Amino acid sequence: MRILVTGGAGFIGSNFIRHLLATESACHIVNLDKLTYAGNLENLTDVERDPRYRFVKGSICNVQLVDELLKEGFDALINFAAESHVDRSIQDARAFVETNVLGTQIILEACRRHQVPRMVQVSTDEVYGSLGSFGRFTEESSLRPNSPYAASKAAADLLVAAYFRTYGLPVIVTRSSNNYGPYQFPEKVIPLFITNALADEPLPLYGDGLHVRDWLHVQDHCAALALILKNGVSGEIYNIGGHCERANIDVARLILSTLGKPVTLITRVKDRLGHDRRYALDTSKLEQALGWQPRRAFETGLKETVGWYGGHVTWWTRIKAGQYREYYRQTYGDLSCVSP
Ligand code: NAD
Ligand code: TYD
Repeated sequence: MRILVTGGAGFIGSNFIRHLLATESACHIVNLDKLTYAGNLENLTDVERDPRYRFVKGSICNVQLVDELLKEGFDALINFAAESHVDRSIQDARAFVETNVLGTQIILEACRRHQVPRMVQVSTDEVYGSLGSFGRFTEESSLRPNSPYAASKAAADLLVAAYFRTYGLPVIVTRSSNNYGPYQFPEKVIPLFITNALADEPLPLYGDGLHVRDWLHVQDHCAALALILKNGVSGEIYNIGGHCERANIDVARLILSTLGKPVTLITRVKDRLGHDRRYALDTSKLEQALGWQPRRAFETGLKETVGWYGGHVTWWTRIKAGQYREYYRQTYGDLSCVSP
């Protein structure tokens, strides 16, 4: 099976490439990635010499490049390429529209021209918007995205659906909950809190800290994606969730207790604009159709993840000392507290 992975140098994409190479001996993977601030070839050093793997640097917004690549002939394309951080989308949404919306349309058009038999669009539960204390989103729930990031992902999902209905393009959309695990860029809350705690620096907790996310280990996500790539039904949407809802403050406390660090490192900061209160997914469709279940309990997965960051200090200190430093300074300032 020849697979074009777009955005494979980021967090989930690099885990997915590693998963596929480990589980599918006959696969051949080309990874097209622009290497934005979030793309990092160090995420793939262990597989870069594998003869079944090839890296191509470039953007999914480059029509000619995507077209040339697809001429090589692929059995499937899976699109991870995106601007992925909500806070950055609040600061400046332009790149989100360019890559997440226009880039997806360019991929869809190229898949149509070259008759790629399977395209999987990796989307997010954030397209459904925010929940109160009860209920879960199903694949039939309305799209009510709140952040510019979520709106750009929802727009891409609608384009994917339009290409299915209009041209019969064999596409699938997956919507997963928040991922965590190795190689996640330390702007996202779990690696941010772990790496700050390791360095005895404050953990910036937004607002009252009672916002709830459903946590899915990245390897469980990758297993679901591999299954969907093989056996999913074209035109369908699949939710992928971890059944691990946790409030942010509890995640912060768990990280600190795992590392034996004081809770006084938790520092309340100004809330995110338009901060979604809670996400939760009904995943019965995927479980019934393809027999998938998340395997890692959150406490086990988090402990392993804390261990991974503790063992890969060079990986994340290089990132934190690079261009990310300016973003961090702009976003968190001197981390001054707001009153509790
Ligand atoms: P990430 O930010 O770690 O990686 C994104 C990758 O895309 C990077 O390697 C980057 O260089 C690449 N990229 C960005 N713009 C590109 C372009 N124009 N052309 C080619 N490559 C480009 O993101 P992630 O956390 O790995 O997320 C991957 C996908 O999964 C995204 O589509 C995201 O919306 C979705 N998703 C993420 C989560 C999560 O919790 N991280 C949850 C649900 C869905
Ligand atoms: P994040 O990892 O950015 O994922 P998303 O916004 O896509 O769910 O944030 C997860 C939760 O953590 C979210 O409720 C916002 C919160 N958060 C903080 O409290 N402090 C932070 O510094 C960050 C980045 C996030």
